[in-house]
Amino acid sequence: MKETCSFLIIFLLPVIYAEAQIHSESSAITPAGYQAQVISEIWWWMLGISSFISALVLLLLIVGLKLRREGTPRPPGGDLWFIVSLGLVLPFVILTGLLLYMLIATNKLIPPNADLTINVTGHMWWWDVEYPAEKIRSANELYIPTGKDIRVELRSRDVIHSFWVPSLSGKTDAIPGLVNTHWLRAERPGTFWGACAEYCGLQHARMMFYVVALSPENYERWVNERKRSKVPTAAQSAGLNAFMDEGCSECHAIKGTNAQGDVGPDLTHIGSRLSLGSGTAVNNYGNLAAWIANPQAIKPGNKMPRAYLPPEQLHSLTSFLMALK
Ligand code: CUA
Repeated sequence: MKETCSFLIIFLLPVIYAEAQIHSESSAITPAGYQAQVISEIWWWMLGISSFISALVLLLLIVGLKLRREGTPRPPGGDLWFIVSLGLVLPFVILTGLLLYMLIATNKLIPPNADLTINVTGHMWWWDVEYPAEKIRSANELYIPTGKDIRVELRSRDVIHSFWVPSLSGKTDAIPGLVNTHWLRAERPGTFWGACAEYCGLQHARMMFYVVALSPENYERWVNERKRSKVPTAAQSAGLNAFMDEGCSECHAIKGTNAQGDVGPDLTHIGSRLSLGSGTAVNNYGNLAAWIANPQAIKPGNKMPRAYLPPEQLHSLTSFLMALK
């Protein structure tokens, strides 16, 4: 009994621990963006029409059963009229109408030009985020200004992923060797979660990201803060040294240092990120230290090996990273 309990606790702990609880929202039927609004209108129309047809079919079934039980004779030629009108003409009219409506509606999803372009590259299992004009690099988070048309250029480094923020827009695949364009426009500020919507391997479910929509003034402030490069203080140099000595810089980049790896997420502003491991855990000192010490316990299968660091070194490395706001 005891063994079973401890086994269960050991087995479940990383699972319980790993689910990030970040205050965010997202649902395709509570749109906060222009594209999501258009898509949700299509959804409501389809739900309404299909509910109406289902009710009609049920009603006809009940009437049919009742007439049969009462032994009412069929009207002559009635079957053919029924099949042609309700089986052919009605579905044709409804489906053609819906098709035309959808073609017109989806055409409205693409704005004439972009106010901002962001490059997003899917990796197993995280998202690289780059603002080419602003020279900002991040991961698993897109900060955008409200009321602006955002073009997301989607790429993939390995397999097919799919970029989806339910409250803001539809899904677009990130396909290796192709550049797909995805459009977003947030109408109000907020933090909206997004997810990979195409099965892409072991940690597909933990390939989440966040879109933080800020008012244009706050967005400007965010850009200026991100552009400022930060030189590590003397107190942080032990952490930076650990970062370089442990080989972290082989995979990760930190702007303003010699760390220029591009296998893993850019860590220039890791301290300000909402989550670790693409929405796997909340970003705080404890979780970051646990992640560095044994990332495979938190997100099995990810590409980061564990770092065998003595406690003081783990502390200075974690403190240094958390200070990179
Ligand atoms: Cu990436 Cu599923």
